[in-house]
Formats: sequence, C-alpha cells, structure tokens
Amino acid sequence: MSFPEKFFWGGATAANQCEGAWNVDGKGPSTADHMTGGDYTHPRTFTTTIQPGTYYPSHESIDHYHRYEEDIALFAEMGFKMYRMSINWTRIFPHGDDEKPNQAGLDHYRKVFECCRRYNIEPLVTMSHYEFPYSLSEKWNGWADRRTIECFVRYTKTIMNEYKDLVRYWLTFNEINISLMGIGDTMSLGMFPKEGAALMSAPDMSPEACTRRFTALHHQFIASALTVIEGKKINPDFRFGCMIAGNMAYPFTCNPDDVMQAWQQNQLSNFYCGDVQVRGEYHPLTDKLLKEHNARIIMEDGDLDILKEGHVDFYSFSYYMSSCTSTDPEQTKTAGNMMFGVRNPYLKASDWGWQIDPVGLRVYLNEVYNRYKVPLMVVENGLGAADTVEGDGSVHDSYRIDYLRSHIREMEKAVEDGVDVIAYTMWGCIDLVSASTGEMKKRYGFIYVDKDNDGNGTLNRSRKDSFYWYKKVIETNGEDLD
Ligand code: BG6
Repeated sequence: MSFPEKFFWGGATAANQCEGAWNVDGKGPSTADHMTGGDYTHPRTFTTTIQPGTYYPSHESIDHYHRYEEDIALFAEMGFKMYRMSINWTRIFPHGDDEKPNQAGLDHYRKVFECCRRYNIEPLVTMSHYEFPYSLSEKWNGWADRRTIECFVRYTKTIMNEYKDLVRYWLTFNEINISLMGIGDTMSLGMFPKEGAALMSAPDMSPEACTRRFTALHHQFIASALTVIEGKKINPDFRFGCMIAGNMAYPFTCNPDDVMQAWQQNQLSNFYCGDVQVRGEYHPLTDKLLKEHNARIIMEDGDLDILKEGHVDFYSFSYYMSSCTSTDPEQTKTAGNMMFGVRNPYLKASDWGWQIDPVGLRVYLNEVYNRYKVPLMVVENGLGAADTVEGDGSVHDSYRIDYLRSHIREMEKAVEDGVDVIAYTMWGCIDLVSASTGEMKKRYGFIYVDKDNDGNGTLNRSRKDSFYWYKKVIETNGEDLD
C-alpha cells in the first residue's frame, strides 16, 4: 500500500458556492452575491445593485447552510477523513470592518465543526474563498487598500479563537495566485468592478492597474502572514497552508524559446506566491516581472520581516488540467481553470474545454515538493460534467470515476517517488454552483443535487455511482481503485 496510513481522503466546497442563505441570520452581502448566473457561452457579470428578476446563484445555491447535517452525514457515509470548506467572512463580520462579530454566524460554523467532529472528520478551513465583504469593496476597493489587512486579521483572529479546539488545519486564501493573471481582481482581490463587468473579462494591464494589483496581492500576503503569526499564539498546534491554483504548463515544442517560456510561466504561476508564503520571501523573478509591467509593489518598512516570520507549514493546491505554451501566436488556445494556454494534441478535454492530464499531477507534485520539502495537500481535483439522471434516480457517472481514478493513480506514483502528500480533497464532493460559469449543470459531485441552471429543483440529494466507488477507495486507503 503506497498511501500513508493516516492519509486524509475527503472532499471540498466553498461557502459562496454551496451555502446559500446569503442574507440570513445577519450575514452581509459579499462580492460573490453580486455575481449573476451564466454558462459556458454566457459569462457571469457583476451588478453593483441586486436587481429584481436577475438570477444570482449564490443566494440559494444548494442551501448547504440549512442542510449541512444531511450533507456531512453523506460525506461520513463515504468515509471522509477530511472536509475542506470555507467560512464566509460576511457571516462573521457583515460589513468587513464591524467592531463586533455576528454571533449567529459564529454559532453556525461551531455547529458545522461539531458535526464534522462527531463523524471524526477533520475540517480544513479556507478563510477566504472567492468572496469579499461588498461594503469594503465599495468603500476601499478591496485589497487595494492597506486598511483591509487589519479587518481581515480581526476576522481571522476571531474565528481562530472561537474554533481553536475544533479546527486544526487552515488555508488563508483560495488560489491566491490567480491575481497575478489579472482575472482575480474582483474574485480574489475584492476590487470594485464596473457595473456589468464580465467575470473573465480581459484585465487592465496599465502600469497603474498592475501596481494596484501587485500591491493588493502583497496586502494579502501580509494578512496571511499576520494570521499565521497570531494563529500560532492562539494554538501552537494549528497548521497553515497556502492554496495555489496549480498550473502545469508544457512547452508546445522543444524550441528552446518555448521551453524558456514554459519554465517562466510555471515559476510565476506556481512559485511566485508559493515562495512568499512557504519561504517567506519574494521569488527571484519578481523584479523582472514588475519591470515588464512598469509597475511596483508599495510596501512598508517591516513587511519583509512579517512575511519571513509568518510562513505557512504546508503547500496546498488545486489541480484540474494542464496546457501548453508557445512563442507562436498562431497556436490554438484551450479553455481552463482560471488559466488559458495552447491546446495539447495528446490530451482529451472535458465538455468545458479543460484538458485532462493525470500525469501532469504527478509532475506538479514532484516539482513543488522538490522546491519546498513541506507536506502537500491536493485540495481540489475533479471533473465538471453534465450528468443524466435515470428513471430510477441513479446517475451512472463512469466518466467521473475514470477521471478521479487516473489522477489518484498518478498521485500514488508521486507518493512512491518520495513526495510527502498528506491529503486529497476532491472538489465539489456535492454538486454546487460553478465558480467560473455560475451554473449548476457543470457538476463535480459524488452527490447529485436536484437543481438546474435557472434555480429550479427540489434540492434533494442522491448518491451517484461515483459515491460508492469513492467509498471503496477510502475504505481500502486507495488500494482498490477499480
Ligand atoms: C477552482 C476554485 O478554481 O476551481 C473553485 O477554487 C472552483 O472555487 C473550481 O469551483 C472549479 O471551477 P468551476 O469554474 O468549474 O467551478
């Protein structure tokens, strides 16, 4: 058996994509609550006011807020050892900068964690997953303003104090590196969007916009480091991780220019944020990157010491796909998880155009482990696909099982390569709202949720074939993948 005895098998969700109850029990609006539904061909857009008659998927989502007990019981039935979930900042501090936390929000997550503990499921908690207090977005332009650091640390200290006996593993920011690519301006950095702006619209790459973006990201780094520093005082047993959108870029040809381009892309995408958060120092390519954009990072004295002290304990990442990179502008592009590249002729793609590459996961795990030598967690991996419900209610999702099996096999090979992988939490273990398209049709779950793209459905839960398959995988600690 290759997987370590105490390997954390499990699944992952994010509050804004599953909780619903967007304005219940004192919760304030977040940036995610202002994002409309969309689909593969129609982008999600931001509206500065909530428009009557417009569909906002986060408002009800799959109503995990009220159904968490049923959902966690299903996770336990599969044998989950870990449940990765996020806390919605605006459930705790409705405006982001409130003096006192919202007690109803604190009580809610206490109940969720107690429920996990009853089933011996270890919670892995993301403190910020693609939502930001709308009020701070409007007032301060999100993370562009340094004052946001103080508000975030007040929030993280509050939840760490509150749950210090219930939660041990924390991730500060989800996919923090997507801001480097510009598409994280609102999703991750909480910067106030223009009315009607599309979620994936081309970012402003002017020197001013780049300075604002790199500085906002720096503010997140400081907030993450201060959270780690404060957290270790609250409970020295806490373990913190960074969370990176894993990007495996291959050179399209063996032309050394393509090879160099792929190398640089991988360095920046996977290690720029990784270096700051794991090593506590900026990547060697930082100055060159800033020069290319004619930008700078606005820092204060002492910031670099904070980063050094507040480094994380482990590296976690999402992995869905790989892409190629080419110096030839004529090459065909592929869609992807917050990243876009050149199509790889050796790979098949999902119905949403994400190229399926299990071997890339093994390469990625080895690359990251060789650089940092810290434990790794695969905290997102999975296949977004349209499912068909049969007359008897069953869902035969063999395509999902194939995807997961091939990735777990490659992860096992990485363990045999000597990589210290400690967790695998499959993304969207229960069907939820897609982050990029805002639709329900793009399903990842082991558990089917009866709801469609327009918000119709009973919200009833049912087990897909993959549910029984994953149960067996966990039971045998990854030995039986058939
Ligand atoms: C990751 C995000 O980028 O990919 C998740 O952390 C997201 O929030 C997941 O849901 C899958 O992407 P999508 O767009 O298919 O939901």
